[in-house]
Amino acid sequence: MWGNHNGGMEPTSQIIVALDYDNRAAAQDIVDKLGDRCHFYKVGLELLTAAGPEFIKHLVARGKEVFLDLKLFEIPNSVAGAVRAAGALGVSMVTVHSMGGTGIMAAAVDAARGFPALRVLALTVVTSMTDSDLVDIGIGDGVSTESQVLRLARLAEQAGCHGVIASPQEVQALRGRLGGDALVVTPGVALPGDSPGEHARPGTPRAAIAAGASHVVIGRAVTRAMDPVSAFLRVYGDLQL
Ligand code: C5P
Repeated sequence: MWGNHNGGMEPTSQIIVALDYDNRAAAQDIVDKLGDRCHFYKVGLELLTAAGPEFIKHLVARGKEVFLDLKLFEIPNSVAGAVRAAGALGVSMVTVHSMGGTGIMAAAVDAARGFPALRVLALTVVTSMTDSDLVDIGIGDGVSTESQVLRLARLAEQAGCHGVIASPQEVQALRGRLGGDALVVTPGVALPGDSPGEHARPGTPRAAIAAGASHVVIGRAVTRAMDPVSAFLRVYGDLQL
């Protein structure tokens, strides 16, 4: 599967490239450019809505793994239906909001049982939210985003979720509290060399994996790069060091 044109790379499923596009042609173009180098793609609500499920089926048929980032937050019956529909497309990961509580997470996990390759990942606190946003929505004074993230991650684990989505800053704390098999999928990573601090290298793919992430998600730094292949190879190379 890995021909000479990719420089003898070993396949990796740890790097997930986010296809945040509003049309199929642009997404297809990047998939074609990355070729056999990239095995795993994230499709979010934008591309799903614009291009439809056919594109996801097409990716799966080409041997790609797909993380379908549905961010489900609905009544349990509707969540279960959406997870079954995702499973029928052949995707490997789907997301559900843990803030919806145990009922919707358990419904998602239950619905995924019919699809052995499908993993249900819980979103905790959306990365753009601050401590004051938590006060605004009634979570309560004195509750930090980190403690809320940890609380929701534990709830997700109890509900049977296969893992969580976590920012680079949260990975270590989460890995220390979740079971060893839990997936910790980390967006918000920078291309190696683009972040300050040559030694600490915070937020690089390597730092995220070293802190306990199972996968890293990288979007625009690869997909909007002048040379997406070399940007992807920088991420890949960072993980091989
Ligand atoms: O920023 P980038 O283009 O790499 O984002 C890729 C994906 O990671 C987005 O689709 C988004 O869902 C997710 N992301 C996130 N939190 C961030 C940055 C990105 O959840 N701080």
